[in-house]
Amino acid sequence: MHCESYLARMLILRFPLFTFALLLLSMSIGAEEMGIEEAIELRQATFKSLKAEVKNLKEAMGDEPADSAAVREPAEKIVANAKRLVGAFPEGSYEGDTRAKEKIWKKWDDFEKRQQKLIADAEQVLAASNAGSQDDVKKSFKILAKNCKGCHMRYRQAF
Ligand code: HEC
Repeated sequence: MHCESYLARMLILRFPLFTFALLLLSMSIGAEEMGIEEAIELRQATFKSLKAEVKNLKEAMGDEPADSAAVREPAEKIVANAKRLVGAFPEGSYEGDTRAKEKIWKKWDDFEKRQQKLIADAEQVLAASNAGSQDDVKKSFKILAKNCKGCHMRYRQAF
């Protein structure tokens, strides 16, 4: 213990820049590894919630009034989760326990557009719910659900 702290102090005193660079390097390596694994876990958990919320919304849509909590709440959660997905696809996160295709990062503009569309479409559903329009809820839900499938066909590995 004593010996280690002596060594650390000596390093810092004699080679401050080197020690600092070493520290930054070890931090960035750690952050990157954690970042990718965390991002994969975050997005998979988020997609799972999305699936459940889409199901809740679909079920409520037919039976409950458009502006009821049964419709509004899943719509709100879908908006929040769609936003949570932004940033959950860091460069290189197609390796590991993931079904994300490498193609995502080759077609990044298109992928990002689809992510933004998911947010915008979910906001449309929410707006329709707030406006109390059953027709608009159903119409905007259809558009939202189409994007799920379209993106999976291009960018998610089949099992
Ligand atoms: C912008 C593209 C895109 C959109 C839009 C999208 N997904 Fe996904 N989804 C993916 C990708 C890529 C994966 C694979 C993620 C991974 O394994 O790291 C995935 C994975 C999933 C999974 C599996 C999660 C798991 O690992 O258990 C579910 C469920 C899912 N999505 C549901 C949905 C639903 C529901 C919607 C629409 C409301 C949706 N997705 C919209 C790209 C998308």
